Amino acid sequence: MQITGSAKRYAEEDAQALAIAVFKDEKADEGFLKELDAATGGLVRSVIETGELKGKEGEIVYLHLAAGGTGKLKAQRLLLIGVGERVDYKPAQISQTAGAAVRFLRGKNVKSIAVVPRAEGETESIVAATAEGAIMSLFDPDKYRTADKEERTVDRLTIIVDGADEKALQRGAEKGRIIGEAVNYTRDLANEPGAYLTPTDMAARAEEIAKDFGLEVDVLDEAQMEREGMGSLLSVSRGSEQPAKLIVLKYTPQGTDAQKGDGLLSFVGKGVTFDTGGISLKPGENMEQMKYDMTGGATVLGAMRAIAQLKPTIPVLGVVPSVENMPSGTATKPGDVVRAMSGKTIEVINTDAEGRLILADAISYAKKLGATRIVDMATLTGAVSIALGDVNAAILGTDQKLIDEVIEAGREVGEKFWQLPLDKEYTKQIKSDIADIKNVGGRKAGTITAAAFLKEFADGVAWAHLDIAGTAWSDDAKPYRAKGPTGIAVRTLLRIVERAETQDSTNDNGKAARS
Ligand code: BES
Ligand code: MN
Ligand code: ZN
Repeated sequence: MQITGSAKRYAEEDAQALAIAVFKDEKADEGFLKELDAATGGLVRSVIETGELKGKEGEIVYLHLAAGGTGKLKAQRLLLIGVGERVDYKPAQISQTAGAAVRFLRGKNVKSIAVVPRAEGETESIVAATAEGAIMSLFDPDKYRTADKEERTVDRLTIIVDGADEKALQRGAEKGRIIGEAVNYTRDLANEPGAYLTPTDMAARAEEIAKDFGLEVDVLDEAQMEREGMGSLLSVSRGSEQPAKLIVLKYTPQGTDAQKGDGLLSFVGKGVTFDTGGISLKPGENMEQMKYDMTGGATVLGAMRAIAQLKPTIPVLGVVPSVENMPSGTATKPGDVVRAMSGKTIEVINTDAEGRLILADAISYAKKLGATRIVDMATLTGAVSIALGDVNAAILGTDQKLIDEVIEAGREVGEKFWQLPLDKEYTKQIKSDIADIKNVGGRKAGTITAAAFLKEFADGVAWAHLDIAGTAWSDDAKPYRAKGPTGIAVRTLLRIVERAETQDSTNDNGKAARS
């Protein structure tokens, strides 16, 4: 899909369909809609008067204009999409409503679409949100279908902001394209069956990203991890024929000191390419879902892929521990004790609590590489779905400033994170009789005790943990999104980087002013 921003008037736009935002309770006889009503020969007034269009968020009215029409609109099809209240109409909503419009129009086999978001604010972010939402809306998880596959494509998308600056329009279109494609990249990885995406494959994807977009990459094999003392991570892959990989991607801005500003922001993502549970084998029902247990890792790869293209002014580190969790004669057994890279000993009570075991060593390794702020993300606990369903992901951590930063970044892009408490009392639940800690904390507060476990390895840095087990996969389709992998957190990570970048330049300006 070719995406461009345009400052042209919508009436002049030569697309097959125009998609125009309509606000709640907007009147047909004043302002913007008055002109559109005249251009459509009174159709807008008609759909408002009949109560078909109230401007409620997500509402859609689709009209074919008579061939030749009133001669006032070049496009022959018009989609009016309700976007709700003006005060709530920010990038998160712009992205969703644009997505709903574009996905709907693809369903009508429309090949070229002009979207008129009608938002107030910066052209660049309006256009970026529209482009991102459009791209995300066109993802379908039907890769391996040979029949009934969604074959329709939208070839051309024009985003119209009347009278806007040409450079801001093109910057926004490019940024939105990069972000939307990164989210879909993550969704595509999450969707891959375990057989087609092993830890070795995941490492190859990271190397491909590094080569295509220019990042430093390093993949540690099991011998190297052994030398680093990563007994916790390695204990998980022991039952698998597939060797573990520890994937490291690093972005360094050109011409700046990698150590400047706030230190090194790092993303760590759980990359379990299939989770059978190991010797603590999962029941068969729904086990196929465990192919997406590498979503946290895929989120890091998707985000790093976008960061390489967006080229922020701060360095970013990505670390993905990738393993397959299998039962076999060589697998780790419940009761085994392993030693993590940090030196802590762990009693493995349940081999199905494997995510925390690999993240422990990945967090230690990120610290070794200089990380000062770590955000980790993982499909870590079934308990998070019980607590928060598929609406909010859980966030926990040791640094309230970083946690608030993630929550706010998420709010800005339309991804919800709800903080759970992490009082030190919870750590009691993971005390072991035989080792320093054990890898499960009993039935109570499963999401919290998993985080309490990770906290043991995140000392000395600002740390936040995202449990995305309930939000990484959606069982029902939305108007703006197919069912299946959601790509949750990719956009939040990118927004965190962007926010850190501006805070960093403020620091620099401050320094410059003082000197
Ligand atoms: N990968 C699972 C968590 C999960 C469950 C992700 C459902 C996505 C959907 C994780 O490794 C796991 O098995 N967690 C256990 C922990 C328990 C043994 C303490 C769980 O949540 O049951
Ligand atoms: Mn598990
Ligand atoms: Zn798992």
